[in-house]
Amino acid sequence: MRLRVDLLPHGNYPDVVLVIDTLRATTTAVTYLERGADALLLTSTPEVALGLRGEGYLLGGERGGLPIAGFDFGNSPVEAGGQNFTGKTVVMNTTNGTGAAHMAAQTGKHIFLAALTNAHAAARRARAQATEEIAIVCAGTNEHVGLEDVYTAGVLAEYLLSLGEFTIDDGARIALTVRRGSGNPLEALSSSVHGARLHNLGLGDDVRYAAELSTSTVVPTLVEGSDVPEGTL
Ligand code: MLT
Repeated sequence: MRLRVDLLPHGNYPDVVLVIDTLRATTTAVTYLERGADALLLTSTPEVALGLRGEGYLLGGERGGLPIAGFDFGNSPVEAGGQNFTGKTVVMNTTNGTGAAHMAAQTGKHIFLAALTNAHAAARRARAQATEEIAIVCAGTNEHVGLEDVYTAGVLAEYLLSLGEFTIDDGARIALTVRRGSGNPLEALSSSVHGARLHNLGLGDDVRYAAELSTSTVVPTLVEGSDVPEGTL
């Protein structure tokens, strides 16, 4: 089995892909489902999300870390963790994370959303699905590599290596080195550019929440929705 880590998204993936946007889209996606959401729709643009308003869905997302005008929620996992989403579908659009999922879905068949909060469950799910190769994709921030995502990729890679034999690429080696050299999860996330930005925005609770390792076994899995509009996963 091959394992590779892409430090930023690109366009050509194997069947099984783990998409990471630890601060905060994939952490928040896990939380929505943990809090009872029936489904998540990940849109390519805020406009597609707003166009779904009439379907009774709830909208969550951000630009620059702050809520999008007209949305019900921002992209805070702490905010999501305080709500009950039972029976609801949540539509998400974020700066980087939902776009990375869309890119992965262009060629990947089995796309799972991963964060630190569901790291071990996500790794197990990918290992169970894969036959030849697993790609771990870091969303990054505005085309810049994000330490928080690479650190998370290192956690996933370390755990996958404990589950069986893998041939790993240099991206995976970099992620393992970052994981082993960046301290504990909160130190790593807080030292990242985006983590520091969130702290400066007064969203440090989200960073602390996102640093909790494997507190959830929920693994958001993208399915191609036949009855959803163009630009939605
Ligand atoms: C992203 O998509 O880059 C993140 O979700 C941004 C954020 O939530 O702060």
